[in-house]
Amino acid sequence: MTDNYVRAVSIADIAPGGMKAVELNGREIVICNCDGRFHAIDRRCGHMNSPLEMGTLASTILTCAMHCAQFDVTTGEALSGPVPPWLGNEVIPPRTGALLKNVGMLMQHICTRSIGTYKVKTESGWVLVAL
Ligand code: FES
Repeated sequence: MTDNYVRAVSIADIAPGGMKAVELNGREIVICNCDGRFHAIDRRCGHMNSPLEMGTLASTILTCAMHCAQFDVTTGEALSGPVPPWLGNEVIPPRTGALLKNVGMLMQHICTRSIGTYKVKTESGWVLVAL
């Protein structure tokens, strides 16, 4: 079976270290420019569906903006779950602390799944994604 490549975005539209969300044939996908090498991943975080292009990309590691779960954009593997519910030694108001503790307790029961990836190639100034 041959791959069906679809034009996703112009290479010039994503600087190195940048990401761009696109919708291709009804799929939400993020194109990542990892220092000139492009990767395509599912847009939704494997933790709680946050849009991953809102996060940060360092080399090939994407950190979700919502709770900081991390993913390898080359494989889609979830490298870590969300940050722990504790904040360290900061002094926080008791009511806020109780709320954070409750959120942290609930968060423990939400697993972080790996995300899907897609084959990518570049051609004539475009990033193409295999669907
Ligand atoms: S939604 Fe991405 S880490 Fe929670």
